[in-house]
Amino acid sequence: MQTIGIIGAMEKEIALIRANLKNLQEEVVAGGTYLSGQLGKQQVVLTCSGIGKVNAAISAQILCGRYRVDALLNTGIAGNLADDLGLGDVVVAEQVLYHDFDPSIFAQCHPYTPVLKADGALVEQICRCLDEIGGVRYKRGVVATGDQFVSDSAVKADIIARTGADCAEMEGAAVGHTAVKNGVPFGVIRLLSDTADDEAESIYEDFADRAAELSAELLVRVIQEM
Ligand code: ADE
Repeated sequence: MQTIGIIGAMEKEIALIRANLKNLQEEVVAGGTYLSGQLGKQQVVLTCSGIGKVNAAISAQILCGRYRVDALLNTGIAGNLADDLGLGDVVVAEQVLYHDFDPSIFAQCHPYTPVLKADGALVEQICRCLDEIGGVRYKRGVVATGDQFVSDSAVKADIIARTGADCAEMEGAAVGHTAVKNGVPFGVIRLLSDTADDEAESIYEDFADRAAELSAELLVRVIQEM
């Protein structure tokens, strides 16, 4: 049987997923809790990584190395960078990248992975599930990851100009990077909670809890469709 690893950064991004797991087993590894269980027809291992790239990479490596997951999914909320998307819409990553990593001086002498491709079959499967669910406005796009809550219009414009990304968050590329290093297919699905600009903090305060709940609800439905 295939096992899917699921990573959310914050408790509110995974609570509803955990509530839907059957035959739950719990293990603590490196200070993180790993919840194994059944979701729909799928065997999953769910964890709350904590915020940021290092936390996400640690969780992703534990899921790949210890739990030997067959695929990794990163879920949660993100700031909108796209003109054609709004709050509550969803980005399904075709690519993830770091917006805060500048490797230019090392480019000739050190291998690095600037853009990471999500697994094509997984992206198709997620989008098919979203189509089946219906009523979800989503875009296949680029997810930009950095150790920064983007809440400044100039910073937002700069990230868009450099990356062309559709949303900004803090874990997706680290999960993707770790997955690629382990030869594990990965996907990232993010629901837009704020505008990532000068207004972002107040919008986030109003909408983040609901957006996180909606993103978890959506992930449960996607996995139940699989
Ligand atoms: N997660 C949700 N909103 C975000 C933002 N604006 N920047 C980074 N991560 C986020």
